[in-house]
Amino acid sequence: MKKFFALLIAALLWTTFPAQVHAVDEDALTARIEEFYSTLPHGEGDYQSRQRPILIQGAMNIETDVLIHALKNPVVYRELNYLFVAGTYKGYPVVVARTEVGLANAAASTALAIRKFNPVAVINQGTAGSHDPNLHVGNIVVGSHSIEVTSFKTTYSPAGSGIDLTQQEMRGAYSFDEASGKFERYSEYHADPTLFNMAFAVANTHENFNVVSGTIGTSDSWLNCVDYINFLHEKYGTSCEEMETCAVAQICHTAGIPFVGIRVISNSALTGEDFSAESATVAQNFVLLVVEDYINKILRASK
Ligand code: 5AD
Repeated sequence: MKKFFALLIAALLWTTFPAQVHAVDEDALTARIEEFYSTLPHGEGDYQSRQRPILIQGAMNIETDVLIHALKNPVVYRELNYLFVAGTYKGYPVVVARTEVGLANAAASTALAIRKFNPVAVINQGTAGSHDPNLHVGNIVVGSHSIEVTSFKTTYSPAGSGIDLTQQEMRGAYSFDEASGKFERYSEYHADPTLFNMAFAVANTHENFNVVSGTIGTSDSWLNCVDYINFLHEKYGTSCEEMETCAVAQICHTAGIPFVGIRVISNSALTGEDFSAESATVAQNFVLLVVEDYINKILRASK
């Protein structure tokens, strides 16, 4: 009888265990992270650092948790309710920002961070939906450039003729242009070449990460319409979609700060892969390696 119950429990565990392993309870995670923050000292006044920090951003707790726990001597700052945790990584100052979701939040958090922390470089990272049938959950896209896939001008069509989203012209997102001294439209923002190459140097030495170069498409939308995803992929070459990268690239361009966007595929409407919160840790672990190399090979080497 005992054996029967043991077998029954084992069978029950067997059927429920994978779900438990793969499910991240976001509310519980948020509560745990907020509790952790409450144990950290809160920074008052100006941020003081001899060296300019690296700023690493993630929109949500699942995208910043690993990074924040990797910091030594973390201190919490809140600016207009946006969260920043400043500490050191590998002995170098690093600030992790939780930007919150969406373009406006990402841009605001970036501008505040530039003013408060004067970062030497900015890395925006996190999850993304695939626009490429060959990119699957866990794959990483290092953005050679990012584009805003909502800044369109549609061609005229009369009332009653229907909506054809393919008849539109990319307008681009406005950013400060050094040469003209004005804000101009940019249809794409390029990654800083040093940060971009560093990411691939890391990818080459750590073969457990599956990394490609690609175009990151940013908007406040979450697309599940496969025809529209295919249209953006074919017309603009998007590798993935998410909600922050291009907005941050825009602000970094305006401020003249090196920037790269690094995204892990967390879902794919193309292949039917559902959102995996666990994928967020892949991007963070990869980014920590990039940051370590950037510190050792660029920032320390330039001294
Ligand atoms: N579409 C849009 N945003 C996505 N994100 C992950 N997958 C997608 C997707 N398919 C990211 C965004 C945002 C949050 C909702 O998750 O960047 O921060």
